Amino acid sequence: MDTYVLNEKNHKKWNELHNQSAKMKTRLNPNEAIKKIIRFKNNHDTSASNRKVLEVGCGFGRNLYYLMDNHYAESYYGVDLTNKSVDIAKKLLSESFPQTECYIKQADVGEGLDYEENYFDSVFDIMSAITFIVDEEDRQRYFSEVKRVLKKGGVYYFYCPRKGGIFRDAILDDNLLEKGYIRRELDCMLERVYTKKELVEFLQPLKLIQLEINSKHTRAFGNEIFIRDDGFWFGAFQKV
Ligand SMILES: C[S@@+](CC[C@H](N)C(=O)[O-])C[C@H]1O[C@@H](n2cnc3c(N)ncnc32)[C@H](O)[C@@H]1O
Repeated sequence: MDTYVLNEKNHKKWNELHNQSAKMKTRLNPNEAIKKIIRFKNNHDTSASNRKVLEVGCGFGRNLYYLMDNHYAESYYGVDLTNKSVDIAKKLLSESFPQTECYIKQADVGEGLDYEENYFDSVFDIMSAITFIVDEEDRQRYFSEVKRVLKKGGVYYFYCPRKGGIFRDAILDDNLLEKGYIRRELDCMLERVYTKKELVEFLQPLKLIQLEINSKHTRAFGNEIFIRDDGFWFGAFQKV
């Protein structure tokens, strides 16, 4: 499989999808993972101030918006592949929360995360790079970078496809599934589907705190509610 070419195709498709979605009202309903992230902080967190949070693949900014609205952190960072989403997220967040420290920038996180080591109290990825990076070297680099930029005690949260789920929205292809991917019908984009073992291996030596199976996803773009029976993981892994 020529993963480099496939990766490029996913990139091009994100630009197309964002240009189309920009014509519609930005969706503000967050993904279900956000409430779990807030609950997790309330239950486990001890650090009081100067919390920095990074969303990888922030799209049009709905998840950061929700966190800001709930006073989750002191400063908020977001990175996304497309300039369109960076522009829209910046506008949404600066107009809605003018006093809040917020930094959004464009980057392909498969090439690395341009932040200092031990910088973030939490990093999260909701159906973004963890799902849409196709090149395996980029994926390794991405996970290494997440581990590098997290502070000791910091937590990486994610929502991503689960191998073993029922993907009625995907074009059936056992060869592709064997390699860890599905191709969704909607726009033929590839998504990486993970086993628990793979997630633990990619993220070691982070400590698994929570890993649960979910079926529902409130999407950023397109149809809002999306059901894949047992088709998503929500995870929380901590740097110890
Ligand atoms: C399904 S959207 C989710 C957006 C956001 N997390 C949300 O829940 O609203 C996936 C996002 O990941 C971004 N993305 C995909 N691959 C990426 C990469 N390699 N680096 C940075 N962003 C990426 C896309 O541009 C897109 O905005």
